[in-house]
Amino acid sequence: MKMLTAATACAVVALSAGSALAQTELRLGLITPPSHVWTLAAERMGERLAEATDGRYTLSVFPARQLGNEAEVLQQMQTGAVDLSIMTVAEISNRVEEFGGLFAPFLVDDNAQAAEFLKTSATAEELLQLLPAQAGVVGFGYGMAGLRQIVSAVPIESTADLEGRKVRITPSPATRDFNTILGTAPTPMPLPDVYDALSNGQVDAIEMDLELTVKLKYWELSETVMVSNQMMFPSIGIMSGRVWAGMDPADREIIAELMGRTMDEILDETVAIEEEMLGVLRENEEVNLVEVGSEFYADAIAEWEAIWTDKAPVASLRAEAGAL
Ligand code: BEZ
Repeated sequence: MKMLTAATACAVVALSAGSALAQTELRLGLITPPSHVWTLAAERMGERLAEATDGRYTLSVFPARQLGNEAEVLQQMQTGAVDLSIMTVAEISNRVEEFGGLFAPFLVDDNAQAAEFLKTSATAEELLQLLPAQAGVVGFGYGMAGLRQIVSAVPIESTADLEGRKVRITPSPATRDFNTILGTAPTPMPLPDVYDALSNGQVDAIEMDLELTVKLKYWELSETVMVSNQMMFPSIGIMSGRVWAGMDPADREIIAELMGRTMDEILDETVAIEEEMLGVLRENEEVNLVEVGSEFYADAIAEWEAIWTDKAPVASLRAEAGAL
């Protein structure tokens, strides 16, 4: 009896050691706050991953730059210290220039078109093939934040009023060039620094979407919220190439399917939330909302195009967007 108990105990220990070994925790780092669409989608993906793999994989989501800023997260993904991310194309374009084409000004008219474009563009899909060699990650599909608008702490009627003013941009050569052409002083700054910079006058205005304008209360610091829809702000669902290479093919398939689904959901949810937040801002009597059209930017678009046509597949992106 004593022997049996010992044997049983050994079996239990072996079993639990086996299952402990078999369980892998994946870490997903991103910069958006806990309440943001990207973060919520990542958490949902974690639940699905545990379910689809019977708990062999778990996903820990680290929002709000807990694992570092995007450049740091990307670096950690190259060594395999971070497994997954939902990362801005702005950051990716610092490594792989061709992605700058996705910031072509007024490529699409509205958020619904942006979502459709990012789901269907063959050129955007081809860009993902550059990621393993040039950034050390595998890309599964596009998400987005809302189209870029301007939240200004100084009163403005149009972008012309921002000439010479410091405008916060997400660090990326393509958005920097557009602002330089517009005559603003582009000030690259990661998301978590934006509120303080706008409130203490370090910048006069910020490029931002409407979801975060409301959720992070940038509107409270504004004299004008200018809805220009001036460019897309895509993200990509990515996995460390090193981690991916070490995975079982069947598990890779699960990850690819779940990440692809998550990114598609982000596109749909962003369209809905941007519409909702536009309504919230329109109803807020304290917000001076100015809506401007692309005609104002005609010269700037042509100048941007002259710089970026040779660096990125701008012509085919425009052709695909035009056909939507
Ligand atoms: C930004 O840098 O403006 C940004 C980053 C992630 C999501 C939305 C906005």
